[in-house]
Amino acid sequence: MKKILVIGANGQIGTELTTALVKLHGAKQVVASDIQALGRHQELAYEKLDVTDAKRLAEVVQQHDIGEIYHLAAALSAKGEEHPEWAWNLNMTGLLNVLEVARQAKLSKVFWPSSIAAFGPSTPRDNAPQVGAMDPKTVYGISKLAGEHWCSWYAEKYGMDIRSLRYPGLISYSAEPGGGTTDYAIQALFAAAAGHDYTSFLDVDSTLPMMYMPDAVRATIELMSAPKEQLKAAGSYNLAAWSFSPRELVDIIQQRYPSFKVAYQPDFRQAIADAWPRSIDDSQARQDWSWSPAYSLTDMVDDMLLHLVKRKPVTQERAA
Ligand code: SER
Repeated sequence: MKKILVIGANGQIGTELTTALVKLHGAKQVVASDIQALGRHQELAYEKLDVTDAKRLAEVVQQHDIGEIYHLAAALSAKGEEHPEWAWNLNMTGLLNVLEVARQAKLSKVFWPSSIAAFGPSTPRDNAPQVGAMDPKTVYGISKLAGEHWCSWYAEKYGMDIRSLRYPGLISYSAEPGGGTTDYAIQALFAAAAGHDYTSFLDVDSTLPMMYMPDAVRATIELMSAPKEQLKAAGSYNLAAWSFSPRELVDIIQQRYPSFKVAYQPDFRQAIADAWPRSIDDSQARQDWSWSPAYSLTDMVDDMLLHLVKRKPVTQERAA
């Protein structure tokens, strides 16, 4: 049986999605890859892979008899604004290399994530629709929207099966994210669990769509397992769980840790957040492949704090 290649397996999504794929298909069926020398999943075959290197990618696909790719290596929104050419090259060359190797090696399926960053100020801020105005303002968002079009082009031109989700901000504890705008929420939870105060780089009422990683991983696996004829969206699916602002998140944390304090010092990331929708209409995902999130917002906070407190030393006061 052909194997699954995860590109970016050490990253925020890759770390947890790889574990879920191993549970589903077995360790022999999954090959992990990332730009780092060593993998995080000790039980798996691992390849050090820079996805912008098309030749090396083709070798890995051939060597391991790959039939499916989950391509998760990408630069996120805030880091992309600081290093635009690097972000564009990684996100676009990486995706084009994956699509081209998938075409040449006749892979059965490809998964590639898009994002709420593909939307922009012309998109309705509440319940951003599946189909509508998209005018991204970040290099990351432009790469996601262009990537959505490239995926559709390959799918239509070559009859390939390429599946995609527009992830909201993803919250997780296994691997820290790298340079996103929604990361403030993760940082706040890490700080609270460690007994520290936190200074938020987004303003108090900056509401964004978010999701807990176990739901995002399940959504990915459910989308990839759905019969193709059920998938009616032309490109990436809108995906949602809940939306919250820093104030709402901090309120919930303070109900658990009353001494947790947050200051607000919005920086350049505020403008990025201001151009994204506050909430997402994911009714097509719900209809086509029965998407439904399992975690409530408070479930997420409780589960995050439980895992983070277990992992990190906390002050006496917070531990009590
Ligand atoms: N979480 C991402 C970011 O903040 C959005 O897709 O960049």
